[in-house]
This record gives sequence, C-alpha cells and structure tokens, in this order.
Amino acid sequence: MLALQNKFKGRHLLTLADYSGDEIKTILEVAAHIKQKHKSSIPTPYLQGKTLAMIFQKASTRTRVSFEVGMYQLGGRSLFLSSKDIQLGRGETVADTARVMSRFVDGIMIRTFAQSDMEELARHADIPVINGLTDLTHPCQILADLLTIKEHKGKLAGLKLAYVGDGNNIAHSLLLGGSKVGMHVAVASPRGYQPNDTIVRLAKEACAGSGGRVEVLTDPVAAVSGADVVVTDVWTSMGQEAEAEQRVKVFTPYQVNSRLTSHAKPDYIFLHCLPAHRGEEVTAEIIDGPHSVVWDEAENRLHAQKAVLTLLMAD
Ligand code: CP
Ligand code: NVA
Repeated sequence: MLALQNKFKGRHLLTLADYSGDEIKTILEVAAHIKQKHKSSIPTPYLQGKTLAMIFQKASTRTRVSFEVGMYQLGGRSLFLSSKDIQLGRGETVADTARVMSRFVDGIMIRTFAQSDMEELARHADIPVINGLTDLTHPCQILADLLTIKEHKGKLAGLKLAYVGDGNNIAHSLLLGGSKVGMHVAVASPRGYQPNDTIVRLAKEACAGSGGRVEVLTDPVAAVSGADVVVTDVWTSMGQEAEAEQRVKVFTPYQVNSRLTSHAKPDYIFLHCLPAHRGEEVTAEIIDGPHSVVWDEAENRLHAQKAVLTLLMAD
C-alpha cells in the first residue's frame, strides 16, 4: 500500500482524465483490498488523526454518507460543510476558502456546479481536493461503478457498456473511466443532449492505448445491443429543475425498460448511480429486477472512496 502511494499522495481527484488506466486499476485493487478487510472486520486505520472537509453546494445522500463513514472507518474525521452555512455562500472567494481550509484540514471533498470552481479550489489548496460531483463529472461514482462491474463480470476490458439517456456528468465520467480501462462505451442520447465534445475526444484518445472503444449514438437499441452493462441516470440533473417538463418529453424514448434491455446480453447487469425515478429513466421491473446491481453499486461508493482517500491522504 505504501509503495503504491508514491504515485498518488498529495494529488487531487478532479476528473478521471487526470489518471491513467493503470492508476484507475490500482485504485480498484486497493478498494477491493480495503473492502475485503472491512468485511472481515480487520481495522484499516490509515487516516488516523486526519480530517476531511466536505463542502456541499448541492444535495446528497450517498456521497455525504459514504465519505463521512469512510473517513470514520479509516480512523479519521470529516466535517460536513453546507455552502448555506459557510462564508463561501455569502461571497467569500473559492480561493480564500481553499487557503483557509489548507491550514485546518488534510483534504477537501467538494460537490459543486462548475468544474472550474472546483479547479479553482484545487489551484489554491495545498491539500488534495476530491470531486464529489460537478455539472461536468462524477469520478468517485464511476470508480464505484467499475468496482461493481469487475466484481460481477470478473473483468473490465472488452466489456460493452451502454449508457442510455442524458449526456451528463455520469455519462462523461463513464466515457473517461471506461475508455481508459479498455471497455467499449456506447452512449445513446437525443440530439442536443449528447456528451461534451472535449470529453468524447479525450475518451477516444484513451482508447488508442487501452483497446477500448467509444461510440456516441442517438439510437438506444444500437447502444444496448449486445451490452454486458446497461446504465442510465436521471433525465434532470441537479440545477436543471426548470427544464424538467421539457426533458421528460425529450427523454421518454430513452427509458430503460424490458423492451430495450431485451437487446442486451442475457446476463447483462443494470447500474444506476441513484437517486432513481422509477417510471421515468428506468422502470421498476428493471431497477428492482434480477439484473440490477444498484445496491452493490451504492455500497461500493464507500469502498472505492476509502481507497481514494487512503492513496491521496495517508502519510
Ligand atoms: N450517486 C450519488 O452521488 O448520490 P448522492 O447525490 O445521493 O450523493
Ligand atoms: N446526474 C445527476 C447525478 C446525481 C448523483 C445529477 O447531477 O443530479
């Protein structure tokens, strides 16, 4: 573990674009190791005496609880800081917040709107900054997703993952992470809601070294055909509430239901980062059905993030 840390200690985790395929695989190996210890009740006090500040500018259930519990299980502590309650919400700059936090704590997790705000925080912080979701990316979620896929399928490289729905933060991080570990990532989104061009270009570039493949499509059936993994996410992300009605109309043909999944491999698994809206992006029969691994996926947020926290923050 300590040898591995040389490559990771003190780094930020802002996007999976900053991590190589091998580094992502290392994080997943450390996560599996930490999970195993946890299941065997073997303590992992790698962050004794360390504190993580968690800044939330958006709501959260999983991210908040998994980071808080993760720090506790690693022997450290965490501080939940809602932007409503700290001076950041009253106009103190991101840069000053970063400078002050760096004098008190050992790492910062932030959930915010603009990727650039988080990058600004990281630029002015002397300690690791971890992305707990921005409008553009959600790397911790995708580390948990890859861990879950590896557990259920025994491998990552060569698998086909179909993401159906909005070309959002989840789609972006799946493109980045999946391409780096050699997966075939097929995204189906309506025109006007397709993933960011720069992210798609980065994902395509990553395929050259990994043997992965990236496709951006409009047809959900083409994406799901022969898929080992089917993923979707909400149609209206946090911050887009005013567009909700319009989005229901646009995305209805992209619902993950049994008609669509009949085109996947017979042993496909279904993932959703949650929270889910049954009857919108996915039907109850799929998310609550035998192919769904969403509860394992949610649990793996804890284990994947404990690996990230340890690699970035342990002495
Ligand atoms: N999947 C996820 O990040 O969930 P929360 O919004 O509840 O943190
Ligand atoms: N795309 C969703 C993910 C929530 C975890 C959002 O940004 O709201």
